Amino acid sequence: MSKKEIIFECETCGYKSLKWIGKCPSCGEWNSFVEIKKELLKEESFSKSLKLSEVEEASLNRIPTGFVEFDRVLGGGIVSGSVILLGGDPGVGKSTLLIQALSSIGENENVLYSSGEESLSQIAERAKRVTAHSESLHLLSTTSLNNVLSEAENIKAKVIVIDSIQTITLSTIMASAGSLAQIRECAFKIINFAKEKNVSFFMVGHITKEGIIAGPKVLEHMVDVVLYLEGDNYKNLKVLRAQKNRFGTINEIALFEMMSEGLKEVLNPSEILLKDRLKGESGSSIGVAIEGTRAILFEIQSLLSPSVFGLAKRMSVGFDRNRMQLLTAVIERTTKSPLGDKDIFINVVGGVTVSDPALDLPLCLSIYSSMKNKPIDEDISSFGEVGLLGEIRATSFPEKRIRECEKLGFKKILLPYSDFERLNEKPHKSNLIPVSNLKEAFAYLNH
Ligand code: TYD
Ligand code: MG
Repeated sequence: MSKKEIIFECETCGYKSLKWIGKCPSCGEWNSFVEIKKELLKEESFSKSLKLSEVEEASLNRIPTGFVEFDRVLGGGIVSGSVILLGGDPGVGKSTLLIQALSSIGENENVLYSSGEESLSQIAERAKRVTAHSESLHLLSTTSLNNVLSEAENIKAKVIVIDSIQTITLSTIMASAGSLAQIRECAFKIINFAKEKNVSFFMVGHITKEGIIAGPKVLEHMVDVVLYLEGDNYKNLKVLRAQKNRFGTINEIALFEMMSEGLKEVLNPSEILLKDRLKGESGSSIGVAIEGTRAILFEIQSLLSPSVFGLAKRMSVGFDRNRMQLLTAVIERTTKSPLGDKDIFINVVGGVTVSDPALDLPLCLSIYSSMKNKPIDEDISSFGEVGLLGEIRATSFPEKRIRECEKLGFKKILLPYSDFERLNEKPHKSNLIPVSNLKEAFAYLNH
């Protein structure tokens, strides 16, 4: 038994209403309600619960993408039957990354690349530019989801790319491509198809000006994995980040360089990120962050300059601005030097956004070096979270961080006293300098 019902839905947040409303009571957006028809199924089927011991664990079958780094971000390759959403700004390299991966997978399995954005010849041109010829790579240019699914079935594709979810439509849904109703229903159908046939999908998603994958958070909740490809269009370095992963660690990142023949993975990120570092300049400090399961070294730069209109600017690229303001206040308190008449600019080199609180200490050292116009020795690196009272707090995986610093040749590592205390292997070959507050850390730079 099914009953047709007409409801209205907010295009922005998904709020539902039985009548049309001008302003959404949930998100406040004007004129965002559209009519959708829904089939309400009255019959439900029930399944039995099982004891934990009775549930058979299915071992995950994973397909390698041809990129070691891409596999790591996915948690060890593409899980069969999974649906992965890849978001990113236009032109960042999403289509390039996926056609390269498909071509590699295509050496063993049938794969399908479908695009609603480009013609067959455009896709083929890119494919030829970046990959070796692959017999099992099938290309399709369509905006119809049913066309994609029937083709996928015909050629028995194991991995399917849909580029992009905003251009694909189901003719049964009375809404335009890219609308919330289309995106949700298409995603729902794709997910069902993936689970039923045990094939994997990549869906490309565009990012809106608010920085979320359009067809808001709804889509992110539905899929198994959410990846973001970030990076400046003008810089070659691109960062692939797992924001959600049902089969692996989140915040895992991989770096890629855009070359004339496609994306090339960066296997030694710390080296690449520190490669252009200027020696002997004040305001530069090296910190080590844990991104996912790996430690990566970052250079944090800061620049202090007298503010012009008496209103001090605080700007930050790659580091949370609120946190940076808070740390600036802690530095003022520790050094007893007011910074209210100074503009402060912070930059994490490489265009990567970092969120590990262990970069607090290197950020403070960088600002301090800039304040005193005194370069930090080039063999010093650091990590540690800084509290409001200037205390340096413990971090996660200190051993991993120390190992990465040592690997890159840093001889002196400033670290939280509490981390130093709980290290298993002591003494390390490098010179560890435990500090318990910012005052001690600054004093070390002055000695
Ligand atoms: P593209 O993958 O089309 O980006 P997206 O799908 O995210 O919109 O490619 C992005 C840019 O990369 C494009 O402007 C051209 C450049 N590019 C290269 O530099 N080298 C290459 O081999 C390819 C295929 C693209
Ligand atoms: Mg594209």
